[in-house]
Amino acid sequence: MTTLALRRPDDWHLHLRDGAHMAAVLPFTAARFARALVMPNLKPPMTTTAALGEYRARILAALPEGADFEPWMTLYLTDSTPPDEIRRARDSGFVLGAKLYPAGATTHSDAGVTSIENTWPALEAMAEHGLVLQVHGEVTEPEVDVFDRETAFIDRVLTRILERVPGLKVVFEHITTAAAAEFVRSARGGLAATITPQHLLLNRNAIFEGGVRPHHYCLPLLKRERDREALLAAATGNDQRFFLGTDSAPHARHTKEAPCGCAGIFSAHAAIELYAEAFEQAGRLDRLEAFASERGADYYGLPRNEQRISLSRERWTVPDHYPFGDDELVPLRSGTSLAWRVVPA
Ligand code: NCD
Ligand code: ZN
Repeated sequence: MTTLALRRPDDWHLHLRDGAHMAAVLPFTAARFARALVMPNLKPPMTTTAALGEYRARILAALPEGADFEPWMTLYLTDSTPPDEIRRARDSGFVLGAKLYPAGATTHSDAGVTSIENTWPALEAMAEHGLVLQVHGEVTEPEVDVFDRETAFIDRVLTRILERVPGLKVVFEHITTAAAAEFVRSARGGLAATITPQHLLLNRNAIFEGGVRPHHYCLPLLKRERDREALLAAATGNDQRFFLGTDSAPHARHTKEAPCGCAGIFSAHAAIELYAEAFEQAGRLDRLEAFASERGADYYGLPRNEQRISLSRERWTVPDHYPFGDDELVPLRSGTSLAWRVVPA
């Protein structure tokens, strides 16, 4: 096969940042995806519908001429998000949900939730108004091993959310373990999960290959090979609950190549190409369209995209870095070759 055509995909977990950084990365996503769910972990965090509305307007203004791309937003949940804010978010028509960052779990999560108890009024309002909860599923207790934080989150937090607010739809974002995939399969209806390209293609050896590799550092961390295999099986299987969310998370090169480097892998430059590579490895290119273009839209109750994109089997070399405002951005697979290329529309 030399070309692969599919319904235009959507990215249900994306970091776009703001200003010159956003202008640098947005064209990559807009060239591939029809829609994205844009994460609210900016400085300051996007805790109100009003702030999200302004951010969304800046995204639309930064789009390249002629781009066909729709940003959807999610509210940054805090210990004190009022139920009224949830209603305003729903009424806006551009907010799909709210994002739970356990305080301290990841980049710009300081304003996040310190105890799940504090969110019950907001989560109940979300269930009532049909907003979806997106969760960064890691506990932050320092005594928990960093590779076990997702599993601990399932036991200590996620099961409680699902029981306490039965009508709430929840997306377990960027799952990284076999245990998480298994949990999603066995949980009550309304729970789904996104999976990133790096967690389908790499295991945790990639963080230490010949030395410390800051560009393979993201949260939640890459895990064992058997976890990667389980995620690949979930993504390429028949289960509607697993769908595409890149978690593309750009950071300036000097902030990653540093004594205390930032977490986040940038993949938007080749997102659908990277997924195609993973699906091809699994011998399931036929399932890419369901994972990338159907299940997420169905889950969020949005129409599937009518436009199509094509990928051609054509090797190309990923640049060492891209411009990123006044900085540089090192993309996933920099300096190496990829098997698939998006055919320009
Ligand atoms: C994300 C970021 O940089 O905003 N980083 C990451 O490692 N994934 C935040 C997040 O999604 O955890
Ligand atoms: Zn993220």
